[in-house]
Amino acid sequence: MYCVRNITDDIYWVGANDRRLSLFENIHPIPKGVSYNSYLLLDESTVLFDAIDWSSCRQLITNIEHLLNGRKLDYIVINHMEPDHGASLQELLIRYPEVKVVSTQKAFILANQFGFCTEGHECIPVKEGDTMSFGKHSVKFFTAPMVHWPEVMVTFDTTDGVLYSADAFGTFGALNGKLFNDEMDFEKEFLDEARRYYANIVGKYGPQVQALLKKAAAIKDQIKYICPLHGPVWRSNFDYIIDKYNKWSLYEPEEKGIMIAYASMYGNTEAAAEALATELVKKGVTNVALYDVSTTHVSELMSEAFRLSHIVLASVTYNMGIYPVMHNFIADMKALNLQKRTFAIIENGSWACNVGGLMQKAIECDLKNCTVIEERLSLASSMLCNKAPELDVLADTLVDSLNEQ
Ligand code: FEO
Repeated sequence: MYCVRNITDDIYWVGANDRRLSLFENIHPIPKGVSYNSYLLLDESTVLFDAIDWSSCRQLITNIEHLLNGRKLDYIVINHMEPDHGASLQELLIRYPEVKVVSTQKAFILANQFGFCTEGHECIPVKEGDTMSFGKHSVKFFTAPMVHWPEVMVTFDTTDGVLYSADAFGTFGALNGKLFNDEMDFEKEFLDEARRYYANIVGKYGPQVQALLKKAAAIKDQIKYICPLHGPVWRSNFDYIIDKYNKWSLYEPEEKGIMIAYASMYGNTEAAAEALATELVKKGVTNVALYDVSTTHVSELMSEAFRLSHIVLASVTYNMGIYPVMHNFIADMKALNLQKRTFAIIENGSWACNVGGLMQKAIECDLKNCTVIEERLSLASSMLCNKAPELDVLADTLVDSLNEQ
């Protein structure tokens, strides 16, 4: 059965939802699923904007066939060739042998690397500022390298004001029948997943996202719809999502608040983290989030690190080093380019407590524009009552730092 939605009179959402995939890119859990968005324009020419993941190809074909109603498909515009979008291209080329493919030169190289064979089909490479007309509708192409792969472009339909934004403004989470942002409570239903998607998929590329936001700003008064490759279509309240993207890509915290991430073997470091959280709340700081790094997926930790201004790392010493899952979290913060955060440290070790120094060095050497609060809570095996004054000082220092920002 087809499942399509009108965006405008002659532009349709023809994508699919995937609730079967457990790990996006085989690494990020997606308990709420994900949508692969694709859009079809029925003009004098028929044009498909982006393909979808191979797993949902049948739904895409069903949707296209329904709308084409016997017409042929004339063009496929590929904004992003990553296989969660490009993998259906091969099947589309077999079904529509006369279709012309429009994309960047880099995307055609990637298509052939992935085995999405375009041989025998007319391939039209486009670059920044190029335009095409499909009848009533004209489009303009803007390159968006590294948002999130090097071949990415976005396409702007100047007739209806539709921005096909590729991965930009995308989110994890299936669509559940609701397509437009004004059909849902985005903040409640999608914001956490949008942030987790941003931080883990595009987070590393803040400067490139900033470059794209600048291009979008130049045409902002013409944009009526933002159509990303995952998640809801935006047709109102653009400032809300653009403001989020601006903050995330500048690595500015979204909120003043404290994330406490702890690595604990027998519950003693956890007890110290709990005690700190309690002290902070008693001192009036209620935006506190506590996470066990052993049981919280690192994509969730990264999302919270992008949200909050302060991060407390509490770790036991393990094999004379940083506890492996905490080490992984710190490595991910470096890989995803997290910046502009204030850190504090709780360290624990029963005979050679050196994890605090190692974490401080990793933050200072690997993370840009971050500071580490000097006061450190240092434990020998467990949080005994004689450590209460040190805990109090650490909590006070964090509260002061929070109030200064
Ligand atoms: Fe949804 Fe970068 O692919």
